Amino acid sequence: MYPKIKEPAFAEDVLYGLKLTPKQLLSKYFYDSLGSELFAKIMRMPEYYLTDCELEIFEQSAAEITTAFNTGKAGFELIELGAGDGLKTKVLLEYLVNQNTDFKYVPIDISEKAVKGLQQDLKRKMPGLQLDGRVGDYFELLAGINNSKRKIVLFLGSNIGNFSEHMAIEFLRKLQGVLQPRDQLLIGFDLKKDANTVLLAYNDPHGYTAAFNLNLLSRINRELDADFQLDNFYHKETYDPKSGLAKSFLISKKAQEINLRKLNERIVFDKEESIFMERSQKYDLSMIETLAQKTGFKQQKYFFDQRKWFVNALWAVDK
Ligand code: AVI
Repeated sequence: MYPKIKEPAFAEDVLYGLKLTPKQLLSKYFYDSLGSELFAKIMRMPEYYLTDCELEIFEQSAAEITTAFNTGKAGFELIELGAGDGLKTKVLLEYLVNQNTDFKYVPIDISEKAVKGLQQDLKRKMPGLQLDGRVGDYFELLAGINNSKRKIVLFLGSNIGNFSEHMAIEFLRKLQGVLQPRDQLLIGFDLKKDANTVLLAYNDPHGYTAAFNLNLLSRINRELDADFQLDNFYHKETYDPKSGLAKSFLISKKAQEINLRKLNERIVFDKEESIFMERSQKYDLSMIETLAQKTGFKQQKYFFDQRKWFVNALWAVDK
């Protein structure tokens, strides 16, 4: 047993992952305040095509998406899971507000800073928007939302691709479980494409993605009193075009030992030993349809960007 600390899940997950062979850390821990800033930079760099593609979909298809929501004159709650800075959603929100649509936007995020920032920005830019930002666990918050209105849930940015297949299924089944038959889910998927395009998005010349990965080692140093030297690791991305799986690794430049002083633990690295940091799954339409079927949803409509590099899929609840 290790001493009591502030966030036991973090310590437990880090220690468990670093003792695995091969070593592994969880990318959900990337998003401390520097990690979130680095991710915002990643989203704005041209190599990270995902943001531009999804923005293009909202710009080109806002009217069509709204029609497919099929809400008629009835009001609805537009609930965004992991809203972040709402960069892409703002385009859709503007369209809905300009159409005098009766809806409330409910951005949900685990980061209080993100929700506060987004609320302030939206209040300034769209004073007519009904807004109810919430901070915390997605499912606890969803369960507490007014059931008298239809819910349209947004899960954008191909965030689903960071889950393993098993975890993605578990997450979507749980989501389906808290929704009613009349509700819908608009979910973003990055599509399979040529390997060099994908690799450049995750191995960018600015070094932001490397810094984003290395920042988790800094977080471990800070929170678990560890002594990772960031210079002793480098970032490496791989992509398998057949399965569509992109993977991020940090690789040890030399044989070394790391002390996690807060946990009284020592981790040994061989030269060139890797830590698996993140998966970013790329999909084809048959994978998307299988995922919908396995999790109690029904595929209704696809919205693509022009190059068909990304898709937002509209799913109905199939109960
Ligand atoms: C949040 N998520 C969808 C991003 C992705 O593309 O997998 C996280 C990311 N990792 C490196 N760059 C961006």
